[in-house]
Amino acid sequence: MNENKQAAGAPSTRPAFNSGDLIVGVIGCGVMGRGIAQIAALAGTQVKLVDSRAGASQAARQELIVTFSKLVEKGRLTQAAADAAEQCLHACNQLPDLADAHMIVEAIVEDLMAKKTLFHQLESIISPTAILATNTSSLSVTAIAAGLQFPQRVAGFHFFNPVPLMKIVEAIGGFLTDPTIVDYLIALGTHWGHATVRAKDTPGFIVNHAGRGYGTEGLRILAENTTDIPTLDQILRDCAGFKLGPCELMDLTGLDVSHPVMESIYQQYYEEPRFRPQGLTRQMLTAGVIGKKVGQGFYQYDNAGKKISVDSAKQSSLLPSSIWISPADKATSAEVRTLITQLAIQVGVAIENEDSPSATALCIVTPLGEDASTCCANQALDASRTVAIESLFDLSKRRVVMTTPATTAAYRAMACGLLTADGAAVSVIHDSAGLVAQRVVAHIINIASDIAQQAIASPADIDRAVKLGLGYPHGPLAWGDVVGVKTVLTILDNLLKQTGDPRYRASPWLKRRALLGLSLHHEEA
Ligand code: NAI
Repeated sequence: MNENKQAAGAPSTRPAFNSGDLIVGVIGCGVMGRGIAQIAALAGTQVKLVDSRAGASQAARQELIVTFSKLVEKGRLTQAAADAAEQCLHACNQLPDLADAHMIVEAIVEDLMAKKTLFHQLESIISPTAILATNTSSLSVTAIAAGLQFPQRVAGFHFFNPVPLMKIVEAIGGFLTDPTIVDYLIALGTHWGHATVRAKDTPGFIVNHAGRGYGTEGLRILAENTTDIPTLDQILRDCAGFKLGPCELMDLTGLDVSHPVMESIYQQYYEEPRFRPQGLTRQMLTAGVIGKKVGQGFYQYDNAGKKISVDSAKQSSLLPSSIWISPADKATSAEVRTLITQLAIQVGVAIENEDSPSATALCIVTPLGEDASTCCANQALDASRTVAIESLFDLSKRRVVMTTPATTAAYRAMACGLLTADGAAVSVIHDSAGLVAQRVVAHIINIASDIAQQAIASPADIDRAVKLGLGYPHGPLAWGDVVGVKTVLTILDNLLKQTGDPRYRASPWLKRRALLGLSLHHEEA
């Protein structure tokens, strides 16, 4: 064991990052291996490329040299830097050529046995102090290291595709990994120009774990027939600020990739309801309707790969004679009240300020985690004249009107007429606990909170990894602070009460911080 510890540590045997002497073997010259080699060579690390396909390492080197020239043409790289990076790239033919490597980054096929076999072979080739890093996205680092002579030198070094643009890497310690190896990867990733985060060896690490909320909750909303595909995506883009709606994102990734990942993370967490997939994507996968790459997924694509757009926004010129905004909903921010009031004034609709509405008023409720029917029952409102609106997110571009099963077509049209009076779009959805944006965002914040609770990563690293890895408008914990931790807890508690589904049970991390008025970034002293 002592001998093992010595073999794994010994960082002094590795040259300094900027010495030009650090040698990293990149095995697997596919999209990931090439990307990793690119950033490493540009940072002055000597990169030895190996691939089991004959000629692949030479082709990868050639391709990278072309990439460097293009960067020079675009003015993003000096010729001298491109020449220096080219000098750092070495195409090798076989594993023994890596004997002098200080570290290996493995980016071969995602197969446990293939990765284990490779690392076993490397043990008899490389120095006992050389690090074995794997770029696996879904396998256990601990399982890859198991049975090796020095499992403590094996760590995850998980980059994202495309590596040069996705400036984040997760450094993952397996069960037996020497923490100094993870420290080393953090420092090296930083030297290569990436933000680095530290994660425990758990399914999905940080990014692919935190990312489980968006697609699965979107699919659940579709499964409940709350709304249609374009409306779901439009609401999450325009109101919550996501770059792509969940269906647009799944179409881009392809269901051949995203559905198995959803199933795998769900199974690896022993059927944790927060990650539960939906049957729709399994069925689409079976039918071969997997997304943009085949021209059809949630959307249709033309021959140029452009989405054939569908806009389901509702238009109406009908207006109510008067409106009444429920004073019972504490969630209704002053901003939302002001907006509705201003719209009403603009179009000459009377505003009722009494405790209860008149017999003809359009009644507006703003629930948190509840559906509109529950609001009507609790507040004794006439459901045929009541609509709920989303009040938590940006209302400048799009407003969301949620009807009860009893809302008449006329009152629905009046709500749309009022909310589009300034030219904004409106989406109409069926009754749903938590509308669309608030339940999706609360679910994402809850999963991130539980990642913090399980100490898989620090709150700061969770937010950094998710922002850079998934491109969400905020890190999920910071987002919880923006929305209000108590508000998020109310949404989740009401979702749990309305659905009875443990998927929505609040993480203790979130619950305790909501109760104590603390930030979701707050860590115990
Ligand atoms: P890829 O299929 O593009 O490339 C894999 C390369 O490894 C191929 O060139 C193949 O010839 C070579 N190879 C396969 N077995 C080998 C072996 N035993 N020895 C040497 N070379 C071997 O795969 P890609 O997409 O680059 O993925 C590589 C790894 O990175 C996988 O573990 C994957 O899960 C992970 N990853 C992939 C991401 C992606 O978006 N593609 C994102 C993050 C991680």
